[in-house]
Order: sequence, then C-alpha cells, then structure tokens
Amino acid sequence: MKYHIQSFGCQMNVYDTKSLMGLLNSAGHEFTDNLDEAEMILLNTCAIREGAEDRVRGRIGQLKRFKDRGVLQYLGVCGCMGQKEGRRLTDSVSFLDLVMGPGAIGNIVSLVDRLQAGERPLIDLSGIDDYFDEIPPVETDEITYPRFVSIMRGCDKRCTYCIVPYTRGGEHSRDPRIILQEAESLVQKGFKEITLIGQTVNSYSYDGVHFANLLEMVNDIPGIERIRFATSHPGSATRDMFDAMAGLDHVCEQLHLPVQAGSNRTLKRMKRGYTREEYLEKIAYFRSLFKDSDIPISVTTDIIVGFPGETEEEFEETLDLMREVRYDAAFMFKFSPRRGTPAAEMPDQVDEVEKSRRLDRLIKLQQEVSKEVNQEFLGKTIEVMIERVSHTLKHGTTYEARMRTGRIVKLDQDSKLDQDSKFDQDSKFDQDSGQHQVGDILNVAVTRCTSYSLYGEPVKEEEIYVA
Ligand code: SAH
Ligand code: SF4
Ligand code: F3S
Repeated sequence: MKYHIQSFGCQMNVYDTKSLMGLLNSAGHEFTDNLDEAEMILLNTCAIREGAEDRVRGRIGQLKRFKDRGVLQYLGVCGCMGQKEGRRLTDSVSFLDLVMGPGAIGNIVSLVDRLQAGERPLIDLSGIDDYFDEIPPVETDEITYPRFVSIMRGCDKRCTYCIVPYTRGGEHSRDPRIILQEAESLVQKGFKEITLIGQTVNSYSYDGVHFANLLEMVNDIPGIERIRFATSHPGSATRDMFDAMAGLDHVCEQLHLPVQAGSNRTLKRMKRGYTREEYLEKIAYFRSLFKDSDIPISVTTDIIVGFPGETEEEFEETLDLMREVRYDAAFMFKFSPRRGTPAAEMPDQVDEVEKSRRLDRLIKLQQEVSKEVNQEFLGKTIEVMIERVSHTLKHGTTYEARMRTGRIVKLDQDSKLDQDSKFDQDSKFDQDSGQHQVGDILNVAVTRCTSYSLYGEPVKEEEIYVA
C-alpha cells in the first residue's frame, strides 16, 4: 500500500516518523510524496499548544476531499495529539480511521493489517509508560542535516503547563552501547554531524553513565565532526556537562537552555525546579569557560508569557533577564492552557490581549538583541558546514551553511559564475553541481546581516608557492 506521513511538532516526531516508515517499508508498504496516490495518510501530531492542535485539525479537514475521491482509504492521527485526544478525535471526525500515541509506534504494522481487514476506527494509546527501545529509523542513502539520534524519551519533570509528560510518559534513557552503534553507523555512512535528542536530553542516565560521559563517548567516534543536542533542562545542566562542551572538540558550543520566565514566583508556579539566580549562575559558568577563546558560542532559550498569575512586575523580570543574558535567539510563546495540566486550572489566567501585548514587547526586545549579536559577527571569519545546496535560475547556486553554534550563514558567491556557465544548458542539477557539497566544512567571512540571518563569502585558502 502507498502511504504518506506528515510530521508536526518537535524533533522527537521527526525521529518517530522515520521509525514508522522503517516498520511500514519492511512490511512491504511504500512511502509516497504524492498525496493523490496515497492510500493511507498518517499525521504525526503535536499537542504542545492550542495552535499546534489547530493546525492538525485544519489539515484533517483539508484531507477529507482526498477520502471523498476514493484513493485515500485510511486516515490516521499519531503522536502527541493522538495520545492526548484519543477517542475524542474519532468521535468528532467520522472519516478518521486510526488514532494512536507515541507508545504504539511498534504496533503500526498490525494496526494497518487490521484496518485493511475492515476494522475501524482503531484506537491504540498503549505503551507510553512501557520501556521500549527506539525502533530503527528508515534506511536512506541521502545525507541531510540535522540527523537525530534519540538518547532518551519521556519526561519526569512535570512542569505545570506542559502536556509532554502525559503524551510521552516518564523518562527512559537508552543503553549507551546502542546509541553508539547507531551514531557510528551514521558516521560510517558519511554523516559528519549528529544531534542527540530527548525531551530533557541532559537528564540522560543509564547504569552510571551520565550525559557528560555519553558526550565523551560520542566525541571519540572516529570521523565525527560535530555533535549537537536538544533540549537541555536547566535543572540537569551540571558543571560536568558545561566542562564537556568546552573540552570536547567535536561538541558544538551551542547551549539551548529554556528558562521559561525570569521571575522566581512564576518559576515556582511553573514547577521548573530552579531559581532565576541559579539559572544565571549556570549561564555565567558556561560563558566563563570560553572567556579566553575567540570561538563563537551561543546561548538560546524558550520563554512563556502570560502564565497564570503573571503580574506586570513578574513579566518585567523576564524582560530584565533577557536584557541581562542577551540571548542569541529565543523561542517565545503565549501560555496556552492544556487540558489535564495543573496550570490550566490555576486562578488568575491572563487574558489573550494582554498575553499578545507581552509577547510583542518580548519579541521586539529580542530582535534588537539578536541584531546586535549578529552585527558582532561582521567581518569575522567563521567555520561553517554546508547543509543545503539550491539551484534556481534566478539566484544561481546558493548555499545554506551552519556555524558550530547552530546559526545559519547564507553564501551566495557562486551565483554569477553558475548562471553563465551552467544554467543556459540544463535546468536540472544535483546536490553536487556547485562548488561545494553538503557536509563540506569551510571558513567564511561574514559580509552582512539582518536580525535573523547572516551572509558570508568563503575565504579562499592562500595559495602556497614553493620556491
Ligand atoms: N523539554 C523542553 C521543552 C519542550 S516543549 C524543556 O523543558 O525545555 C518546547 C517549549 O514549548 C517549552 O520550552 C515551552 O517554552 C513551550 N511550551 C510548553 N508548554 C507550553 C504551553 N502550555 N503554553 C505555551 N508554551 C508552552
Ligand atoms: Fe515539558 Fe517541563 Fe518536561 Fe520540558 S521539562 S518536556 S517543559 S514537563
Ligand atoms: Fe509536540 Fe509532543 Fe514534541 S507535544 S513538542 S510533538 S513531544
């Protein structure tokens, strides 16, 4: 059967989609990108905020016409919204055939068999609290970044606003031997960079192996160039972890450490488990490790505004923290009540207009800071890795590259050259037709910037003359 899967949400869903594809392909089903020929479509969904769920509901609505046309036989919802909503989804959408959660991925083939035998609707919310190892992702020869390796799943932190512990269950770390095997085989296939993922990736712990130990082990894989990880929780960010980031040559200098709020009272209601002062101390320690080095480092965060009971004064403390830390970038959200979480029931919910006002102020502040941070790169020479090569008639060959800190640098130096030499002959190009290929690591000089983007030109290696 031909099937299609669309992923919403975070890196865990991207990973899970690859696992679903691995299982379905092994059972003889075939992935297609063409929705018109898909006999089954699965939406791998996110429930983190109302907006994420609205997008999925919108998508389900759009897919009805594919079912009406008759080629599409089965429409399913997997992932976090499936787990959270369960039967409510099939009760409200009559043309939905399958609802399952992240714990039921291993059952996908038998669920599809049952659909094909005429059973519907099927609901499988089992497994999120069982220990199971990750299901190997589908094999592909294509090298694209980011490439994720899951090291743990689930979350025990239970922040009062968050749905994840309910949709993904408690924390489980994977055996480091399996993680290393997976990472090594990727490097052997030609991947130069891997991103270790988990809901609170730095809480990793397996038989005495902690996150910093795991970073050391992955760093030792011959041929690996860059190691990233997401997402860290401040409570589990130890000095060992920061020391490993500074001391291990392949671990990137990129720290995404979501603070969520700058006021201790808000942090307490969120049940984040740290204070503003403890958080700032960790950032200061991380930065101190690089104070004598000219390697760029990056600190980014997530913030929620309008958490129940957040006063104007508490919000000001968040703005103040943002000014103090000067993040390279931040993901900023309005609090979205999630049914079943403690915060949804808290008194003094902040009204939507006020949440929007606070979000706007926060975004403006961060844009100013980001622009200043970007300007500091002007004229500097920085190591990047090419991640995407695109060829268009209008722009010629352009490259998107990434610094070790995760920041994107766009290179456009091939444009004119390629327009003249290649575009009049043929409009079809593969990833290799330009001067650089995906995975090339080179130095670029940063030539211009905006709040969000940096632009650069490769620095030519100086020619060496032998007399
Ligand atoms: N495990 C990660 C975050 C996962 S969710 C951590 O703890 O850092 C990604 C981000 O979504 C969170 O950091 C938070 O800022 C935001 N988020 C989670 N639940 C939310 C909610 N109910 N309303 C608004 N934003 C939320
Ligand atoms: Fe959600 Fe908090 Fe767990 Fe992050 S640490 S996934 S915000 S409960
Ligand atoms: Fe969304 Fe689930 Fe990830 S709620 S953010 S897809 S863990």
